[in-house]
Amino acid sequence: MKILIIGGKGTIGKRISEHLTRKHQVLIGGRSAGDVIVDIADSRSIQAMFESVAGLDAVVCAAGEAKWAPFDSMTEDDFTIGLRSKLMGQVNLVRIGQHYLNAGGSFTLTTGILADHPVRLTTSAALVNGGIHSLVKAASLELKNGLRINAVSSGLVEDAVDKYADYFPGHNPIPMSKVINAYVRSVEGHGTGEIIRIYDNC
Ligand SMILES: NC(=O)c1ccc[n+]([C@@H]2O[C@H](COP(=O)([O-])OP(=O)(O)OC[C@H]3O[C@@H](n4cnc5c(N)ncnc54)[C@H](OP(=O)(O)O)[C@@H]3O)[C@@H](O)[C@H]2O)c1
Repeated sequence: MKILIIGGKGTIGKRISEHLTRKHQVLIGGRSAGDVIVDIADSRSIQAMFESVAGLDAVVCAAGEAKWAPFDSMTEDDFTIGLRSKLMGQVNLVRIGQHYLNAGGSFTLTTGILADHPVRLTTSAALVNGGIHSLVKAASLELKNGLRINAVSSGLVEDAVDKYADYFPGHNPIPMSKVINAYVRSVEGHGTGEIIRIYDNC
């Protein structure tokens, strides 16, 4: 398969890329580095990316940002960061990409445990993750040409523990092998409309 991994140089993305490269042709998309430079917060950039990369069988998105801050300090602009990047960025990848992917292709989006088990400071990230879960279920009913769509929703991943552990008291980190397998299941499996949840003890 020819697979584009957006955010393929990030914490999660680089582990997926390393794994999928063993069996597939993998291209990395990123904002500052990669085979294709793309900013998912800009739909024109997404359109240009699909114009420049032909014959894709799968798009994996392991990118997207949202502001973390106390709810009583969040401004409308603060919410807009997550809405433009992680929410509409991934919506636009599918909305535009459906017209470019090979028949039988797949989209794998990334959300996270905050959709189901939020922690403090995450109203925006939780909102955006939940929105993507609903998008996946609804879009799977309408995608044509055998296209599939799933989301991977992981708990705090092992490789990010140093950065985020204090925000997730009592959470068991998810081993990277389990995280990778969730993406493999979406890309190489046959399911669609699935939210692949990898949580431990929630
Ligand atoms: N880390 C966790 O424990 C965890 C758990 C569950 C879910 N998630 C979710 O998984 C996703 C990836 O997390 P991560 O920890 O791997 O993040 P990360 O280490 O910060 O990596 C993110 C990658 O995405 C790229 N990127 C960011 N914004 C982009 C944009 N607008 N357009 C294109 N590329 C962009 C970055 O490229 P540049 O550096 O070039 O900007 C970077 O390569 C996030 O949505 C996060 O919420 C993370």
